[in-house]
Amino acid sequence: MKFYIATDHAGFAIKEDVKEIVKNMGHEIIDLGTNSPDRVDYPDFAHKLSEKVLEDSGSFGILICGTGIGMSLAANKHKGIRAALCHDAYTAEMARKHNDANVLCFGQRVVGLGVAESIIKAWCESEFEGGRHATRVEKIEL
Ligand code: RB5
Repeated sequence: MKFYIATDHAGFAIKEDVKEIVKNMGHEIIDLGTNSPDRVDYPDFAHKLSEKVLEDSGSFGILICGTGIGMSLAANKHKGIRAALCHDAYTAEMARKHNDANVLCFGQRVVGLGVAESIIKAWCESEFEGGRHATRVEKIEL
């Protein structure tokens, strides 16, 4: 799988570890910043990553801020982006299986690295089930 990753300052501290987790699982990950703990605005990074995921068919995104909420709100403004705020392996699994989510969001201030790893593992091991879920996902777009 190919991932893009972006964080704001409140997700920056965990970013390198998350990149290592993704690489160690055998996936590709491209870093879109931020590149320091200096304060930035999360929508700038959510929009940048969403554009990349939409351009690069089949790719996925990981967005991390303090809670994951702001990142998910901003990313979901893009038609074709289905950003899921996941707090655990179960929500990550369902985000892929039922919602065909293409951007994973979580909060550095909410989950630790161990939970983040289980979220990413569940995401990577789960596939969209289609069928009745495809009909529902189609209805998300207005
Ligand atoms: C930054 O303080 C914080 O508001 C941001 O990272 C995020 O949690 C917003 O949803």
